[in-house]
Parts: sequence; structure tokens; C-alpha cells
Amino acid sequence: MARHTGKLGVAIVGTGGIAQNTHMPGWQQLKGQKVEMVASCDVIEERAQEAAEKFDVPHVFTDYRKVLKMDEVDIVDVCTPNKFHKPITVAALRAGKHVIVEKPMAMTVAEARAMCRAAKKARRKLMVAQSMRFSAETMAMKEFVDSGALGRIYYAHASMLRRRGIPGWGVFTSKELQGGGPLIDLGVHILDLVLWLMDFPEPATVSGVTYQEIGTRKGIGGMGAWDHRNFTVEDHGAALIRFKNGACVMLEASFALNIAENNMNQVFVCGTKGGVSNSPLTFIREEHGNLTTAQPQYLPKIRSHHEEIRQFVDCIRKDTPSPVPGEQAIVTQKILSGIYESAEQRAEVKVR
Ligand SMILES: NC(=O)c1ccc[n+]([C@@H]2O[C@H](COP(=O)([O-])OP(=O)(O)OC[C@H]3O[C@@H](n4cnc5c(N)ncnc54)[C@H](O)[C@@H]3O)[C@@H](O)[C@H]2O)c1
Repeated sequence: MARHTGKLGVAIVGTGGIAQNTHMPGWQQLKGQKVEMVASCDVIEERAQEAAEKFDVPHVFTDYRKVLKMDEVDIVDVCTPNKFHKPITVAALRAGKHVIVEKPMAMTVAEARAMCRAAKKARRKLMVAQSMRFSAETMAMKEFVDSGALGRIYYAHASMLRRRGIPGWGVFTSKELQGGGPLIDLGVHILDLVLWLMDFPEPATVSGVTYQEIGTRKGIGGMGAWDHRNFTVEDHGAALIRFKNGACVMLEASFALNIAENNMNQVFVCGTKGGVSNSPLTFIREEHGNLTTAQPQYLPKIRSHHEEIRQFVDCIRKDTPSPVPGEQAIVTQKILSGIYESAEQRAEVKVR
């Protein structure tokens, strides 16, 4: 594929929360750089219309297939519930569009593979919107890890725990539409982050547990009232992931758990010579015979969702690899699917 120096038209498909709060403002910021939103599409017409008015987008649709017929559309930004990521992405790629798709890339490994195949065949860019990779803190973590400061990495921990944070909007409590609960919704963020920091070692086995203890009861708290009668996902999940190189990751994610605080979010990666932790950002290393910790100061203010969009446009313009290639998301999806399988079987399973 050649470099793309001309105008790039963008279509947003699924103009709900994430689209209106982060993606559309992100695209808007690139208006001066020959990047323009040309279509707003949602199955709920008023929502597509509302987004179009808010962000000055000329065309409104309720059917994404009509969007794909527009010659002015070069990029499709898929912000629908997870179930629709694969069909919309594959159709868009087949229509010759570049695609950025929200996380998780898909609900199953087979879906993720089909999306990658479609991108390869169409020779178009496919990026998964793993926004956590694009903050100043995580980019600093990556630089520190890539410098070799950690030595051989053998252990990482990734947790995103909400005390009471069951989403009351969207379809986050529906297994059919999302593929799972906090593991696939929140766990995918931090799992991707540690795998990226560790340079994607090859997974071997996982041992996972999932629980559904709070979401199905008429409970207290939450991020809006959720429908406990139709709560079909786990409310807490955890796993031990073993890699072929001997390293392991401990992962835990919850929508609701009886812990002391809300939002206990932490990622750390440890090696033979040092470590790195995100909350607060801390670099750990052995120096001059001492164990030292350093907290980087004056990091630039970067809005991660805007940065991911900027980097996606950059890869199209320069014809460089996707900043978050689908092939990496296949690995993440294999691990998540393995965790659900292991939880069901109550046994450690191979990652396939
Ligand atoms: N990166 C992040 O931090 C982050 C945060 C929240 C959500 N997300 C992801 O974004 C996606 C959407 O989440 P949300 O919170 O915006 O949900 P939402 O329910 O607010 O918005 C989804 C929108 O998609 C529309 N839709 C459903 N099917 C469609 C179809 N076939 N064609 C067009 N529109 C369709 C819905 O009507 C709705 O307006 C999910 O995959 C979620 O995992 C990512």
C-alpha cells in the first residue's frame, strides 16, 4: 500500500458513549490535518443524529452497509457493542476501508482471526483501540522496559477492580452481546498492557475463575441502575497465565467485589534487575548496590484516546505497521477465551 497524503474521510459506527466522549473529539482535533468525519451511523437514528449535530458531521445513517458504499469514507471507526465488531470490521475492510475497532477486538478467537485475514487480504490497516497503551505514563513504562532495565521479565500483575461499578448503560451485562463481563471488558485493557510491556511472550496455559455473586442480586451502588434480572456475565474473574518462557501474569478484574475501595487499578511488571509499576508511575532498579525507586516527573499531558487516533492516522499516512495490530489482539483473545474455558472446567487449560 502506498502512503496516503490526501484527505481522509472518517465514518463512526456506533455513536454511543465511547464514540461521543472520546473518539469523535479525537477525530475533531485532526480536522486541520485533512482528516474529517463524514458519516455518523447508529442503529438508533436519534443518537446518530445527535452525534452528527454535536460534531458537525454531514451524513447520518442507521445501516453501516450504506456507509461502506460512500467513496468519501476511507476509515471506519467501530464503536458498537462487541458482538458487532467482527461483522462490521470485515465488511468495512472488504469495502477497502481502514478500520479502527474498539476493544475487545472480538468475542472469540475465530472472530479475531477472521478480522486479521480480512485486513491482510484487503491490504488495509486494522488497529484495535487499546487506549491504555497511549498515555504518557504507559509510554514511559514501555520505554523503561524496552531499555532492558528490568533484566529478564518473569512476573507481572494486572488488576482492575471495581467495588461497585456494574455499568448501568449499554449492554455490558449481556454475555450474548459482549462475550463476557469484567474480564473481557476491563481485563482486556490491562492484559494487553502487560503483554505489550513484556513484548508478547507466547502463552502456554491458564487457570481461571469467574464468579457471579453480586450482579444477579438487586444490589446497592453501581454506575447507574443495572438490570440484575438480565445479568448474564461474571461480576469478578481472576487468572494465572503461564508463558512458554517461564514468565507468568496474575490478572484480576471485577465489576463488583466486596473490597475496601472502588477502582483498585494496578499493573506492575517485574524482572531480575528491576521493575515498573503504573499507579503511581514508578521505576524500580538495582543501582550501585542499592535498590532504588524513581518517580518520573513533568510527563506531557496526553489524552490516550486522542493519541491512539493520531497514531492510527499516522500509520495510514506513512504506510507503517498498525500501532495495535490485530495479530496481538488474537493472543489476548486466546488467553481470555482460555480463562473462561478454564473457569468452566475448573481446571488449568492450554492456550490455543
Ligand atoms: N477504550 C475504552 O476505554 C472504552 C470505554 C468504554 C467502552 N469501550 C468499548 O466501546 C464499545 C461501545 O461501548 P459504549 O460504552 O460506547 O457503548 P454504548 O452502548 O454507549 O454505545 C454503543 C452504540 O452502538 C450502537 N449500535 C449497536 N449495534 C449497532 C450496529 N450494528 N450498527 C451501528 N450502531 C450500533 C448502539 O445503539 C449504541 O449507541 C464496546 O466495545 C466497549 O468495549 C471502550
